[in-house]
Parts: sequence; structure tokens; C-alpha cells
Amino acid sequence: MCGIVGYVGKRRLVPVVLEGLKRLEYRGYDSAGIVYLQDGKLVKFRSEGKLQNLEHIMADAMGAPAHIGLGHTRWATHGAPTTANAHPHSDCTGDLVVVHNGIIENYHSLRKELIEKGHSFASETDTEVLAHLIEEYLDGDLRAAVTQALSRIEGSYAIGVLWTGMPDTLIAARNHSPLVIGVHEEDGGFLASDIPPLLPYTEQIVFLDDQELVVLQANNHTVYSLVTGEVVEKKIETISWNAGMAEKGGYKHFMLKEIYEQPQAIINTVSGRINPENGSVDLPEMNLSDADIAGIERIFLIACGTSWHAALVAKYWIERWAGIPVEVDIASEFRYRTLLIDERVLTVSISQSGETADTLAGIRLAKQLGSKIVTICNVVGSTMTREADGTIYTHAGPEIGVASTKAFTSQLAALFLFTLFLAEKRGSMEAAKRLEFGKELIRLAAVIEKILPALQDEIKELIESYYDSRDFLFVGRGLNFPIAMEGALKLKEISYIHAEGYASGELKHGPIALIDKDMPILALAPQDAVYQKSISNIEEIKARQGRLILIGTEGDQHLKSITDDIIYLPKVLEELNPILYTIPAQLLSYEIASRRGCDVDQPRNLAKSVTVE
Ligand code: F6R
Repeated sequence: MCGIVGYVGKRRLVPVVLEGLKRLEYRGYDSAGIVYLQDGKLVKFRSEGKLQNLEHIMADAMGAPAHIGLGHTRWATHGAPTTANAHPHSDCTGDLVVVHNGIIENYHSLRKELIEKGHSFASETDTEVLAHLIEEYLDGDLRAAVTQALSRIEGSYAIGVLWTGMPDTLIAARNHSPLVIGVHEEDGGFLASDIPPLLPYTEQIVFLDDQELVVLQANNHTVYSLVTGEVVEKKIETISWNAGMAEKGGYKHFMLKEIYEQPQAIINTVSGRINPENGSVDLPEMNLSDADIAGIERIFLIACGTSWHAALVAKYWIERWAGIPVEVDIASEFRYRTLLIDERVLTVSISQSGETADTLAGIRLAKQLGSKIVTICNVVGSTMTREADGTIYTHAGPEIGVASTKAFTSQLAALFLFTLFLAEKRGSMEAAKRLEFGKELIRLAAVIEKILPALQDEIKELIESYYDSRDFLFVGRGLNFPIAMEGALKLKEISYIHAEGYASGELKHGPIALIDKDMPILALAPQDAVYQKSISNIEEIKARQGRLILIGTEGDQHLKSITDDIIYLPKVLEELNPILYTIPAQLLSYEIASRRGCDVDQPRNLAKSVTVE
């Protein structure tokens, strides 16, 4: 999705904004632009493609004596990813510029109206409408004009506005699209779509809420409600992330770094939440009373993509150990079906970013129907955490690679804790077992840490016979069925190989028709409760000459009679296999994509934070 960076302060503008845009690259984009104010005039640079192109045309502007400006990375929605459609967009005078994330749904009618009033448009974008609309209302008071213009807008937006008439001020606003402010006494005021651009300068963050506007100056920020026009008192939050967390730290790609960060991310997510003496689970930010928990009759888990796979695993855990029926929905489906939800239902959203539009819409709907909302989220202060009744934070640190890795395994760790928490409150699991499970989760982090380097080497070698495949199947049973789907998603999104994940038992109902000597199939076959059943399914694949890669339990000699391509993993608590078995699936995707020369961290067409429907 698009990214916004803004700055006003003592520093030179261009390096701050350019570096900030680089830190938003993970969101996905196809053109970019920067504008700054110098000697009373707006200076604008825009280009198609990656930021290198913008950097190239701005080579002489790096040291420009400018201290206020805006930058934008655009992920095309309305109009092709051309230079003319890249932001910032100007009004007719060229004295006012706007950057915008989101979609202005009524832009057709507004454009028509503005053209009739004599405005001329230079792009095909919905955003440009906003620049002309503000121009239309501007009569010396920029805040009033922006407020008036936004009152005409239907849709979602995060915007930044700069006008030569107020050379020390940026105006920004949001509605259903994230925007944060960073403040620093010496350095000035920062504006961004996400936290990473602010990390080199400040840990002091103000999270704008929907329908809020900020007037940002070097040493001052005032937030107003777009509804009432009144000043809103905002809390300045201190975040614990640091700049290094959003850098590659010697790894070739963010994705690889993040795969290696998983043991720490799991430990951070679990730390301090299980009492080592009595196995009691403490999730204080969840904000549910014992009566609330006792009253839960059903749980809905809603999420998108990889986070949805985490939900699918959690269904097995919660139903088995807490005895509560669980329904799992893809958020974009959930919001458009008949929902039999009331106050006896607990709705849990799972989202790395906390900004995914469909998931957000889902929790809003469930809330209206009387359900309590808990969110499992990685980003402190994100919209979902502010709208939910309670949050279980994953403490994975910023995830920059578009393909989710450490956020996913941390979600699983958090969901496992949530299961133990529910089991404790509902009295469905003894303390000793909870304690054992908690300890096994911590041990798992150490196991992953230990096996990672050798596992990567082994997989790197293995993929030499598979990296140029056209298709791939992933299969698993029980707890590992969602991991088969996750493995397939990871592979397809970063290597562009067509991949599907199936429940092993489902193969014979259709997909088995695809199997021949050219079809690679990765089968997850740990020695678990459904091991024998998995082996039978794997034999069915072998009988049809499928090219099998097996991932199984160390010491399982039987696997050797099936194929030579086996990845052995240590035995861990069976319940935790989904976390462990995810690791080789991630590495396989990573190594294949890397071998094929793909842009691993920013795969084509994808965005990290999907803030449009
Ligand atoms: C895939 C991936 C996506 C996200 C999905 C939801 O690797 O990252 O499928 O999981 O877009 O995003 P969040 O978790 O931010 O709601």
C-alpha cells in the first residue's frame, strides 16, 4: 500500500524523507515522489518504479536547504503507475500539494464538479481531486480548507498537505488509513504511515485516530477532530522498537533476517506471561473479566492471509484444550455473510499490522452485534488495538519483509498462550499440564535457534532440483494442514510458482489428478496422532510417482523407504509442531525465490499492510 513521510524541522529535508520512504518500501509501491519548500517555492520530484529512480533524479537535490516537505510511495489503484500519476499532486496554482493513501470513492463526481468550475487535472488519480478541492475552499486558512474538503470525501484517506502560504506547517489527517506523528524537541515533527521511518529520530509517537487532523510544526503539534473541529488531547506514546530493528543487519534480505529472529520473537511473546511456579497465564491487556470468559459460548477467529492460517491452527488448540467451539473466517468473507453473533460470542482478530481493512471492518461488525473483541497484533497503537476491547500483543518487532514469517510464528505462540489462558479460566486443563506446555513453548524457541543454520544449508542444497518447478503441492493433516497452506502461500507469493496447500486426506477427492512424475509435493509428516494416516496419503502420492519431499521426525527410518528428499526435525511437543514445521517451509520458499532471482522482500503486486478492501 502507499506510504507517506513528512518532516518539518532543523534537518535537511531530502535525506530524512528519502530514508523514511525506504523504510516504508516493504509496504509495496510502484512509483514515488518528494516535494519540499525552498525559497518560498515548492520543488517536486516524481518517478515511476523503485526509489532508486527517484534518488537518481534527485542526486543534485540531496543537500537542498529545505526543512519542510512530504514524500510518498504509491501503490496504484486509480490510474497506471506512471510519473504523472505519482504523488505529490498539485492544485491549479502549483502552490499547494497533497499526498494521499486510500481511495476516494466519490472522486468521479467531485472531478466533474471541479472541472466545471475551471480546474484542470494533470493525472488520472483520485488524489488530485483533493488538491483542487482544498484549493477551491482555501481562503487564507489552510486547516479550515482541508477540513471542508475532507467533509466532501467518501472513502478512506491518510493525507499530508503543504502550502506555500504556511511555510512552516504541514497538515495531515486520517480516516481508515494509518498515520502516525513522531515528535522530537530538537529534531522537529515527523509524519508517516507506519513507525519505521520515525525510528532513527524519535520514540515519541502520537497515533492519529480516524477523523482527526493534525497541524504539525517543528516544535508543536495540535490535533483536531474533523467532526467537531475541537482540539483533541492526544497521548504521546513511547515505543520500544529501535532503528536497528528495521535494518537488515548483515542478512541478504529482511525475510531471511526475520526467519532467524523467530526464536527471539517467540520468547519475547511468551516472556512474563506464564507464571513458572503454577502455570498461570497472565494476559492483562486482554481486558476480559472472569465473568466475560465464563460466558463465552463460541469464538470467531477472523483474519486474512497468513494470519488466517494462524487462526486455523488455533481452532484445533482452543477446541481441544479449552473446549470452546471455534469458527474461523477469512475477514473479507466474514463481513459479507449472515453473522449469528451476539454477546455470548468472543471475536478475535489476528493481524500483524493491525490495519488490514477487511479484518478491521469485521471486528467493527462483530462489535455492533454485541461481541467482545480481542485482537492479536504486532503493532502497538495500531487501529485494531485501539478499537478492540483488549489486545494480546505479539512482540516480534517490526516485520519488514512483505512475506510474513516471524509475525506468523509469534501469532501462533500468542494463540497458544491464549488457549492456555482460556483453559485455565474455564478449568479445562490442569496446572501441571499448562506449566509443561508453557515450558515446551520456551524450549521450542531454543530448538529452532539451534537447527536454523544447518537447516538452511540443507534446504539450499535440496532446492537445486526443485527451484524451476512450475507447480508445487503442500500437504499436511490435523494441526499441520494449515501449515501446508501457509507453506504454499509463502512459496507462491515470493517465487511466483503456482502452489496449493491441501489437507492430505483431501487429495483423493480431486487434487490427486494433478500428480505425476513432474509434480513436487512437500508433505508434512511428523510422528503425531495422525502419523499413520499421513503415511497412507503419502503412499498414495508415491504410487503416482509424485516427487516427494518429506518433513518428518528425526529418527523416522520409514520415511527413507519413501523418498531420498527428507528434512528431519527434532521431536517437540506435538501441539507445537505447527510452529516448528513452518520453519522449513519458510526456508524452502525463501531459497527457491532467492535462487530464481525474485525480489524476495517486495514481491510484485503485493503490499505489506492492506488498508484497502
Ligand atoms: C503473507 C502475508 C499476508 C498477510 C495478510 C494479513 O505472507 O503477510 O497474507 O498475512 O495480508 O495481514 P495482517 O496480518 O497485517 O492483517
